[in-house]
Amino acid sequence: MQEPRDTAFEMATSNIRFGPGVTAELGMDLAEMKARRVLVFTDAHLATLTPVAVVCEALQREGIGFDVFNQVRIEPTDASLLQAAAAARSGSYDAYVAVGGGSVIDTAKVANLLNCYPADLMDYVNAPLGGAQPVPGPLKPLIAVPTTAGTGSETTGVAIFDLLSLHAKTGIAHRRLKPTLGLVDPENTRTMPPLVAASTGLDVLCHALESYTAIPYDSRPRPARPLLRPAYQGANPISDIWSLRALELTALYLPRAHADPADDEARANMLLASTMAGMGFGNAGVHLCHGMSYPVSGMVRRYQPAGYPDDHPLVPHGISVVLHAPAVFRFTAPACPERHLRAAQALGIRAGADDLPQIGERLARWLIGLMQQLGLPSGLNAIGFTADDAPILAQGTLPQHRVTKLSPRSASEADLQQLFRDSMQLW
Ligand SMILES: NC(=O)c1ccc[n+]([C@@H]2O[C@H](COP(=O)([O-])OP(=O)(O)OC[C@H]3O[C@@H](n4cnc5c(N)ncnc54)[C@H](O)[C@@H]3O)[C@@H](O)[C@H]2O)c1
Repeated sequence: MQEPRDTAFEMATSNIRFGPGVTAELGMDLAEMKARRVLVFTDAHLATLTPVAVVCEALQREGIGFDVFNQVRIEPTDASLLQAAAAARSGSYDAYVAVGGGSVIDTAKVANLLNCYPADLMDYVNAPLGGAQPVPGPLKPLIAVPTTAGTGSETTGVAIFDLLSLHAKTGIAHRRLKPTLGLVDPENTRTMPPLVAASTGLDVLCHALESYTAIPYDSRPRPARPLLRPAYQGANPISDIWSLRALELTALYLPRAHADPADDEARANMLLASTMAGMGFGNAGVHLCHGMSYPVSGMVRRYQPAGYPDDHPLVPHGISVVLHAPAVFRFTAPACPERHLRAAQALGIRAGADDLPQIGERLARWLIGLMQQLGLPSGLNAIGFTADDAPILAQGTLPQHRVTKLSPRSASEADLQQLFRDSMQLW
């Protein structure tokens, strides 16, 4: 007998305040929350830049005591999360602040969780890799101040990291991980290096495209209790609105924001797009581009991109995701061509009902054109992988059920191998 299908979806997002200069309001927000001492998470590079200075001044103005933990690892690992959790334990903090990209915000979420409800990290990690325990109760306040226009992590109950023993990324996903407040301030993305702007902007694009084309929420099994309803529920009418708008804004503003960091209008709209896509995918989920990115990130050998730390090889998250997008959307389009067409139209691609049979190809070509314009590597070959890696990359994708099962077309191991091979050289 078929399992009963879900009939409900839930919309959860952080409170968001958007606008140039809102970072300076942070001290007042924490004072309202009666915080007396807070820990500020950031990374070593951002610790030297304006956003962190503005946060520290805002705390000083309100007489709130604070320490700064500036050792967040870019592309966090289980080991780096435990190090951050230990820092969070070392003082009696009533609240946390995260100033940075997704690496910093995700690290602060996990440090908060492990301090409020101590347990083995793997107990909280998604199945089948971890125990998938729900977050047992409310966490301490966390204010997220994003400095990239990319992950939307300020809106989501998701934290992603590299599980070193597995050489692949995985994560913890629960609504209670959501920051209490996201201070989304376009002043904070001004200093992004060009490749960071490109990679994070393409992450926004994939969040929106994948969440809009994910399976519908009512094709998933119904959970036994509301607490067990996953954050990634499948496409639903509310997420669709955020995802489509994020596509429109990204197509209009990413090339401009990348070309000229002083273009305030473009930077502000890309940051809005990132937050909107976060609201979309944070409740609908992502699928194959993200699922395939996780072993690529975990198995990186020597790629050291400009604008990122040079102390360890890494594939910037957005790059690890978007390099698969042309192959993935060619593959998924036949499963729901109308959704792919609507997404293409939101990107400004001139296509109509007559184009339905070729819509995956049209989308793929448009994506490749944008990647070329933004100076991305030309495929997995250019970041150190070869076609011989396709089997091991496919193996590394198989356990990523949390996202891959949301694909509108299910991908077998052989399909995944072919999708990796098709992503080796895009142009
Ligand atoms: N939680 C979620 O919902 C979610 C969603 C997508 C991705 N992620 C995760 O987020 C991480 C990636 O985050 P990201 O792409 O935002 O980048 P990041 O946090 O990894 O930062 C990338 C680089 O940019 C630098 N940087 C960031 N902001 C800057 C600024 N304003 N000026 C100058 N330099 C700046 C950082 O110092 C770093 O070197 C990955 O681990 C990814 O898996 C999480």
